Amino acid sequence: MRVLVTQEIDPVGEHLLRQAGHQVEVRAGPAPISPDELRRRLPGAAALVPMPTDRIDAAVLATPGLRVVACHSVGVDHVDLDAARRLGVAVTNTPGVLTEATADLAMALLLAVARRLGEGERLLRRGDFHGWRPTMLRGLDLRGATLGIVGLGRIGRAVAERARAFGMTVRGCTSTGGEPLSALLAHSDVLSLHCPLTPATHHLLRAEPLAAMKRGALVINTARGAVIDEDALADALEAGHLGGAGLDVHAAEPAVHPRLLRREDVVLLPHLGSATWQTRRAMAERAAQNAIAVLAGQPAPDRVA
Ligand code: DGY
Repeated sequence: MRVLVTQEIDPVGEHLLRQAGHQVEVRAGPAPISPDELRRRLPGAAALVPMPTDRIDAAVLATPGLRVVACHSVGVDHVDLDAARRLGVAVTNTPGVLTEATADLAMALLLAVARRLGEGERLLRRGDFHGWRPTMLRGLDLRGATLGIVGLGRIGRAVAERARAFGMTVRGCTSTGGEPLSALLAHSDVLSLHCPLTPATHHLLRAEPLAAMKRGALVINTARGAVIDEDALADALEAGHLGGAGLDVHAAEPAVHPRLLRREDVVLLPHLGSATWQTRRAMAERAAQNAIAVLAGQPAPDRVA
């Protein structure tokens, strides 16, 4: 059967699919597949392996013959799951395999913002390092600081483990349990987002919750850009209410909010959470295994719809 993969992935994915007897078409390119190109290339495919930037709406899911959308991501906010259920198209994801890499990246961002690494590196590269000064680029001590974690799933818990090793006090909440978000906002020196993007978490951090945060607090986002209202975040930073932000994800990727792009106290990354050789290999493997299972009429290991 034909399988369309919308971006180059680790070769193990293609290898497994071919070994299972499928015909694999891997589309490669620096930019995500456009909706037009996807519409053109998908007919005739029984499986689609999309990236988190590909919008898989009801029209895509209604492509005749499509049986499975095997996401190359743990996040499935880019897929219309209700339409998939209605149309009988299976949807799978890649949970578990990217937990450690994403937690490492969240911690790297936290350290980069708390210790002002981006500002320091830029200062040095433009020739503005004129010698050690006691007042230069002072940041936040992690030991003794409070980290608030929104979303206590695998990745949130893995970040908590790392933060405790740095001497941070960790508090957490989910949308259904833990302490209320308001208490977390009021007590956290750093807030790190690890919840999926759903209608309930869209713009979870908007003007009001941001105003309820401690003055000088830092925000770290490795979840999905739209969990934050980026306009409101830029306002809070410009007003000096927040002390900085570390953002690996952006609401309108690949575009980055122009006011955040200009700020020295914001560290910006191009959605690198799971970008290690080992993790991307495991994700490709898992996506392929899920597609193979559905096409063979077997239960997929990671079916979400
Ligand atoms: C995911 O898997 O959802 C990430 O955003 C990509 O690593």
